[in-house]
Amino acid sequence: MYTKYSIDEIKNKLKLCLNEERYNHSIGTMEMAVELAKRFRCDEEKAEIAGLLHDCAKCLPNEELEKYIDSFEECEKISPKTWHAPVGAVMAKQTWGVTDEEILSAIRLHTIGKKGMSDFEKIIFIADKIEKRTREVKFREKIEKTLNKTNSLDAALLKSFKITIKSLLKRKLPICFQTVDVYNDLLYIVENK
Ligand SMILES: [Fe+2]
Ligand SMILES: [Fe+2]
Repeated sequence: MYTKYSIDEIKNKLKLCLNEERYNHSIGTMEMAVELAKRFRCDEEKAEIAGLLHDCAKCLPNEELEKYIDSFEECEKISPKTWHAPVGAVMAKQTWGVTDEEILSAIRLHTIGKKGMSDFEKIIFIADKIEKRTREVKFREKIEKTLNKTNSLDAALLKSFKITIKSLLKRKLPICFQTVDVYNDLLYIVENK
């Protein structure tokens, strides 16, 4: 048991915390996380829970999320869009009764990532980007194609970081140093395989 609730109980409760689109995205992420867990031999039940709960704090107002500022990385503090990840990890433990550390860390890392993530953390990160219910085809197909061509989570993750960095540049938004750090690390791993 990784949480005190059943999947159906989590779904019913989550529906009350998220708007319809975010709920559908969470179901999509759960489905894709299970698919990837099967493919890359990770724990499917854990993937189901992490996928479902990864955005559990997404619909909270920034004033509420900001209360957890002490748990944010320095580079997250300037980017409110990332706040739901650290808060989601805290809530997954406190509100949703998740006891498994890897589920909590996958939720924690699903926005900015980290160097040396586990395969499980990588599949949650990628599932969030390529789920089929709400992500647009043009957004997810490049990552999917890379994953299918290479069968490498690192290569898919690298593609995802490339897309994120390009989009940040285009929108003239700041790029967190940790993002660049993870990108460089993945680039080295993928190019030297
Ligand atoms: Fe998210
Ligand atoms: Fe998400």
